[in-house]
Amino acid sequence: MSNELPSIPVHTSSPDEKATLTMPNGQTIELPVLAPTHGPKVLNVSALYKQTGYFTYDPGFLSTASCDSQITFIDGERGILLHRGYPIEELAAQASYVEVAYLLLYGKLPNQTELVEFGNQVTYHTMVHEQFKQFFQGYRRDAHPMALMVGTVGALSAFYHESLDINDAAAREIATHRIVAKMPTICAMAYKYSIGHPFVYPRNDLDYASNFLHMCFSVPAEEYKVSPTLAKAMNRFLILHADHEQNASAATVRISGSSQANPYACIAAGCASLWGPAHGGANEAALRMLFEIGTKDRIPEYLKRAKDKDDPFRLMGFGHRVYKNYDPRARVLRESCHEVLEELGKNNEPIFALAVELERIALEDDYFQQRKLFPNVDFYSGIMLHAMGFPTSMFPALFALGRTVGWISQWKEMIGEPNQRIARPRQRYTGEQIRRYVPTNDR
Ligand code: CMC
Repeated sequence: MSNELPSIPVHTSSPDEKATLTMPNGQTIELPVLAPTHGPKVLNVSALYKQTGYFTYDPGFLSTASCDSQITFIDGERGILLHRGYPIEELAAQASYVEVAYLLLYGKLPNQTELVEFGNQVTYHTMVHEQFKQFFQGYRRDAHPMALMVGTVGALSAFYHESLDINDAAAREIATHRIVAKMPTICAMAYKYSIGHPFVYPRNDLDYASNFLHMCFSVPAEEYKVSPTLAKAMNRFLILHADHEQNASAATVRISGSSQANPYACIAAGCASLWGPAHGGANEAALRMLFEIGTKDRIPEYLKRAKDKDDPFRLMGFGHRVYKNYDPRARVLRESCHEVLEELGKNNEPIFALAVELERIALEDDYFQQRKLFPNVDFYSGIMLHAMGFPTSMFPALFALGRTVGWISQWKEMIGEPNQRIARPRQRYTGEQIRRYVPTNDR
């Protein structure tokens, strides 16, 4: 990355800037225009119903900002992702996950003392209650790790009653630390349970990423030494997934929390949303596609299919709804992916050699170039996690682990808003008109 920060237009607010809307009955109203720091300006329609009796209609929130947020900014056209103003490439190259967690939660990079104190908090809370294990035992032995995560993360609220009062700032703080600290433990327990291994306790002498790898891959029968290359790659993976502004799971966490639900329940709701294949499942789909293609000589056949409008097949791990330029996360993870393959001596394994070749051919192809379809973060994360030894069923759980601090930061920001109210979307009712109840015998 060059030393120059990318240039992004900066807006300044002008209280006089307004848009004029003319209603079908001729009524004219003025809508205040709100300026963001970066990104598109926003029409404030919050008084529209009161003023006109009309709702706005925007399924999927394609044109709707649901909140003010100071956490993350994405400029898809320019391929930029900022956390609290810092480019993701700089954070991924230089920061630890715990440092990024602090940044997301508190809005600034920690100084040395703050980092040590926060790191201690996050380390201190890594263990779960012994009784907590029994939740896992209740699941079928081959349960999907995300099924375990959704249930057990929510179950934390049954253990930490004293931190459930969301109106108490100290309780919110301790719940935040607990969630960031315990998520790797729970995620690793979900993995161990799904493969029939004994749970491995956290080791507080290891950093966040190394401790997680230790809990996933060590067994009581032999010593496991965490590879620094794999730990670095996991640290990056977690940073790159830490937040992505108002996506489906973050919005779910905010909406759940807006009813004053406890934070553990809200993070469980985030896990549930992320589990969906359209959100957390793309890296698994990318890896499955590589296995389906199988050998390099079949790449042209699959590229032809990806370009054929009558064929629903798409090249998984390519393209992005928001990034119409190179996904900045993908560039960073590509590097880690290659480091991991080299460290594990897997560069020449057929599946990985196939991935490298597919990436090369697709990047040179006119169809993909014209449509700005670049490999996305899921392309590289699928390959990297598979090389590290994670089964595909763990991919969304690992995504959820990284994203947890983003969810809790979004929750914290939402709770801290002075005018915070319960989220209550409107609808356009398209059902039956009013009608009379008909007794059963007369239907
Ligand atoms: N393979 C082949 N053609 C594609 C692909 C692809 N992966 N993605 C887009 N296109 C084509 C599409 O057919 C269209 O062509 P045309 O202009 O001729 O009609 C053009 O590119 C624009 O596509 P689009 O459907 O308007 O783009 P979109 O923003 O709606 O779709 C996407 C974004 C991610 C759903 C899509 O690129 C896709 O399905 N990719 C594969 C799945 C995938 O990797 N998803 C993970 C995304 S990252 C998730 C995250 O960040 O959480």
